[in-house]
Amino acid sequence: MALVRPDYAGEASWSVDDIPYQALAYDRIRNDQRLFHIVASASFIEITSDLYTKNLVEFFHHDDEVVDWLKSNWEREELQHGAALKRYVQTAWPDFDWETAYRSFLAEYSLCCTVDQLASTKALEMAARCVVETGTATFYRMLSEVSREPVLKRLAAEISADEVRHYKHFYRYFQRYRSVEQPSRVSILRALLNRAAEVESEDAFYAFKAVFSVCNPGIEFHKSNYVAYRDSAMQLTRSHFPHGMAVKMLLKPLGLNPVVGRAMLPAITSAMRLFMHSWGGRATTKGRSFLSGA
Ligand SMILES: [Fe+2]
Ligand SMILES: [Fe+2]
Repeated sequence: MALVRPDYAGEASWSVDDIPYQALAYDRIRNDQRLFHIVASASFIEITSDLYTKNLVEFFHHDDEVVDWLKSNWEREELQHGAALKRYVQTAWPDFDWETAYRSFLAEYSLCCTVDQLASTKALEMAARCVVETGTATFYRMLSEVSREPVLKRLAAEISADEVRHYKHFYRYFQRYRSVEQPSRVSILRALLNRAAEVESEDAFYAFKAVFSVCNPGIEFHKSNYVAYRDSAMQLTRSHFPHGMAVKMLLKPLGLNPVVGRAMLPAITSAMRLFMHSWGGRATTKGRSFLSGA
């Protein structure tokens, strides 16, 4: 089957070499521990995209167009996000042993990221991917807006634009599968809310744990350390999270008219509160709360 990539979606127009790391304003970032943890965690999650791509490719193996896009564009761009964030971390906080921390993250996280954690049908998985890309697009938008450091501001803006394009691709594939599978509006809504609710994510947890352990040798890690960090990150989202952008992106897959859409807003906004806890993990968890019973 001939593969024609839609022109509207395009590809990333930047590369790691375009980011002016040499212009980094160290004094604006060096002592910001919260931002350090956020950016380091994001670098781990992004650079592990080959694992997520493998799962999705397996799920959509019958669909040449989707597989081609996942391998040729999506994975490459997500890996570039990871590489660019890694370089930022290593430039801004040179004392941090990124490689050791990443090895620790990967060892734990790779055990829980498997294909059976995807949605029950192709259309519903595409809808769920829209949720994940909404999470990453809005997270990086927020990161760009709150950053007082110009290099991070630029990098986060570039990544956010990529995530919005990813959303558009997944949304187009969702439309195609919806016309075949014809899922009910209720099942789509359930898939969106489930995926949003599941993003109390293991990837964010294991990323934080790995960074914490390398930064605090000899100190035992407790889940309360992660909870304290998460609460601190949540303070950022309270004042800066682009709720309007998130809600619009999440309502689109439902195909709601504006009147019904407005009626749905409370439910969607409520789910977004859960979603913000992790600012856009890959949502490949089994939906269990691994923080409870700690
Ligand atoms: Fe990304
Ligand atoms: Fe993405």
